[in-house]
Amino acid sequence: MKTQSLHLKAPDNWINDPNGFIYYNGYYHLFYQYFPYGPRWGTMHWGHAVSRDLVTWEHKGLALYPTTRADQNGCFSGSAIEEGGKLYLVYTGVRYEVVNPEDPHTCLDEQFESAQLLICSEDGYHFDNEHGKEVIIPPVTDPSVGDRTHTRDPKIWRGRDAWYLILGSTMGEKYGEVLFYRSEDLHTWTYINKAFKGPEYGWMWECPDYFETAGGGVLLLSAMGLLNNGEKERNQSICFPVAFDEATCSIQIPDDYQYLDYGLDLYAPQTTLDAEGRRIMTAWVRMPKVADGGWIGMFCSPRVVEVQDGHIFFRMHPNIRKAYSQAIQNPAETRSGYLASFDLTDGGEINIGGYLITRKGNRIVTDRTAVYPSFEGAHLISETPDTDYNNPDGTCHLDVIVDSNLIEVYVNDGEYVISSAVYGLTREIRCSGCKESRVYAAER
Ligand code: FRU
Repeated sequence: MKTQSLHLKAPDNWINDPNGFIYYNGYYHLFYQYFPYGPRWGTMHWGHAVSRDLVTWEHKGLALYPTTRADQNGCFSGSAIEEGGKLYLVYTGVRYEVVNPEDPHTCLDEQFESAQLLICSEDGYHFDNEHGKEVIIPPVTDPSVGDRTHTRDPKIWRGRDAWYLILGSTMGEKYGEVLFYRSEDLHTWTYINKAFKGPEYGWMWECPDYFETAGGGVLLLSAMGLLNNGEKERNQSICFPVAFDEATCSIQIPDDYQYLDYGLDLYAPQTTLDAEGRRIMTAWVRMPKVADGGWIGMFCSPRVVEVQDGHIFFRMHPNIRKAYSQAIQNPAETRSGYLASFDLTDGGEINIGGYLITRKGNRIVTDRTAVYPSFEGAHLISETPDTDYNNPDGTCHLDVIVDSNLIEVYVNDGEYVISSAVYGLTREIRCSGCKESRVYAAER
């Protein structure tokens, strides 16, 4: 089957969220939302890819597809855990209540219900779609708890004394909320508690993820309708440093949040632990049009999540950094992607094949106008907040991963990251106001 390096891309057609991300029996397994019949969103299946090192990925074909009443119209997002040597996936099954006469692969007027399902695999590769699925949380029927339609994306983890599950939901389509469940045995789940902020944090919270790090707990959310600035992507992934109490499943969510990524293209992140116990994150890169080769949708390179003094860092994973091992003079020397590093002074500007990165005071600003399709609501200019972690000499350190359809700008070792989908980059770099610049290829 097809292999890919450094960025996992749709093998063909369409992919969106990463699902079931786990290090299991010596391999990273990364599943994903997949529509196998065309380059657009539709009835969701789970595609499957595996990797030894997070660098080279091998596509394994389909893992999950609709086979039961509960998931007859799609296997939506979910997560994985290992228990007793087996791999378990939990995910959302959707069932449309009416047929859409225009298109059986999409729902008419949001008339659907959502349940949470479990499926077990002995080896991480074989899934009994015909007989192995179990509904563990039926559609929510109590409107004071959550929504029958918009409740989805279970993320599961082992707590100190039990299994825990966080679900995204909405309170009457007015504001997003997360629901917490607990289980002793993975099969019987009890609703314990919920958390929310209010309408200014979006009307529905998708793909929640909660985890602890050495520097504190983190909550990731993908908030629908968060922005209202005339741009296309109103849905945005945000993160908060949080404190979570297992006994009561209560969580303190502060008012202020960071964006997952300041390019605002990433969405639906998912985290897991890597082979060394680091918390790592990947996310869907939303692309506005089909790339050369007829595919659409990819994932950002995996990032190590760390919390320091209440700030959430997304650092380049060491395996990714190591993969770019060959120092070269300029990008024309390699046929594949590359990593470029800079120490940028105030007012400095870098041009990466038409993608502009400038430093304005303590902010990094990017402009992709020359390498992005033009359409109404296109998000072209991105910027970080003020940086706090510049080099001792006042320069700002940038590590920029460049691939044909994605640029990732790591600012000060992950203090902030700007990731941008791009089209038609040229193979040249120009820089003014750089103290230091280096380029590395993964292969020539
Ligand atoms: C996020 C999302 C999830 C859902 C999936 C469906 O992008 O909308 O909430 O499970 O995509 O493909």
